[in-house]
Amino acid sequence: MRVLIGTRNPHKLGEIVRILGEIPGIQWVTFRECPFSEVPEEGATLEENARLKAIMISQESGLPTLAEDSGLEVVALGGAPGVRSARFSGEAKDYGANNRKLLELMEGVRDRRARFRTVAALALPDGRLWLREGVLKGTIATEARGKGGFGYDPVFVPEGEARTLAEMAPEEKDRISHRRRALERMRPLLSALARGEL
Ligand code: IMP
Repeated sequence: MRVLIGTRNPHKLGEIVRILGEIPGIQWVTFRECPFSEVPEEGATLEENARLKAIMISQESGLPTLAEDSGLEVVALGGAPGVRSARFSGEAKDYGANNRKLLELMEGVRDRRARFRTVAALALPDGRLWLREGVLKGTIATEARGKGGFGYDPVFVPEGEARTLAEMAPEEKDRISHRRRALERMRPLLSALARGEL
């Protein structure tokens, strides 16, 4: 069974393929083999955006599609940047500028609690849809550190860690990440799909 991974972000794609690995009966298809249109992220929540992406890409491709929407939610900022994480500092989706803006807003703020949240969505061409969530709790660092990962990884320190996500090896991030947790909750559904049981 061919399943399309509905993201054009190479960082996310890499993490998704690494995390899910081989699932018996499933052949992963990416935007390189099956190009699809960009889905405007117009939803008010991560759930809505994940749902929109999975359904629209599945309708366009005719393939079962696994998509996700993720964001960073900072307690002292009332949950921002949240669903606006990619465009926090503007339409350019500039990771460095987003991190600088976040660190500026958090200057002198003592409550540095934050969490990453991923909502994964699996849509079938017949319109059926499943959503699964994963969360990683942590704090916002006082400066950007590390070269790994992407997005807000250099400014996010997972709970129980001293390093930022960007200072960890890719496998270390994958072991604990919000994306990992959402995708592990999706795995049984993907296996059921492969067995023709959905
Ligand atoms: P979207 O899910 O494509 O809307 O991406 C939202 C934004 O959240 C990305 O542009 C990144 O800035 C950020 N983001 C999503 N996942 C991660 C992650 O695993 N680490 C760091 N930043 C992330």
